Amino acid sequence: MRLLETQRLKKYFGDTHAVDEVDFSVTQGEVLALIGANGAGKTTLVNVVSGLLPPDGGKIHFQGIDVTHQSIHQRIEAGIARSFQLVNLFDQLTCLDNIALPIFSREKKTRRLMALADKDRAVREEAMEVLQQFGLAPKAAMVAGGLAQGERKLLDVAVAYALRPRLLFLDEPTSGVSTREKAPIMDIITSIVRSGKITAVVIEHDMDVVFTYSDRIVVMHEGKILADGSPDEIRRNEQVTTTLLGTTVAP
Ligand SMILES: Nc1ncnc2c1ncn2[C@@H]1O[C@H](COP(=O)(O)OP(=O)(O)OP(=O)(O)O)[C@@H](O)[C@H]1O
Ligand SMILES: [Mg+2]
Repeated sequence: MRLLETQRLKKYFGDTHAVDEVDFSVTQGEVLALIGANGAGKTTLVNVVSGLLPPDGGKIHFQGIDVTHQSIHQRIEAGIARSFQLVNLFDQLTCLDNIALPIFSREKKTRRLMALADKDRAVREEAMEVLQQFGLAPKAAMVAGGLAQGERKLLDVAVAYALRPRLLFLDEPTSGVSTREKAPIMDIITSIVRSGKITAVVIEHDMDVVFTYSDRIVVMHEGKILADGSPDEIRRNEQVTTTLLGTTVAP
């Protein structure tokens, strides 16, 4: 079933056609990799779909409902969540409180925000459970600013996950971490996504990660979709390999 569908979605910045009449769709239950060179338009597409930026044209349907003009909060409520290319954590707050915040917000308990997780047992327990799923429970009381880079990336994904979305966009969840750390991060993310029956769109530059973890790959190039297919189809697509992948794809 189609979870998300865009029709001729458009976002221009002056002369830059960042997203250029894009028809993009996400099927329920898949882990979809969104790839493309720097500046291809990946983050802009996610920004427009998640409601951070208004489109200049086109339509966005989520679960069959037109959300093109909905606010970011309405879209979160409908089930669209995202993480950011640069992590978006409260460094002075503990890991537990970073997770408690989206739960409070989801539960509309924001008047209790100042008390944070300590004062609300249900929220604290749920936040602990989320930290546990992401392997971060031992760091619950540590301030987020004290985490290693790989743990920061995981916590950032956990914050978006705590909103209990149906569709989760992850903008480069393994960027800035060592190659050795990437697989454990993606193992955790994909197992949580699959066990939670969430659909995920992962923007990623590392082709080993892309081909190992995704069910389908969408390739963007200069604001347009260049290719869309299974990892095998994308691997065999000459246009993709010459314009984008170069020699980085394993034969
Ligand atoms: N807020 C903005 N104002 C002006 N131009 C922008 C803005 N955001 C993005 N762009 C431009 O739009 C194009 C697409 O950028 P975008 O960030 O979506 O690419 P990307 O595929 O996410 O690249 P990367 O892999 O480097 O993150 C680029 O040319 C970029 O410079
Ligand atoms: Mg980007």
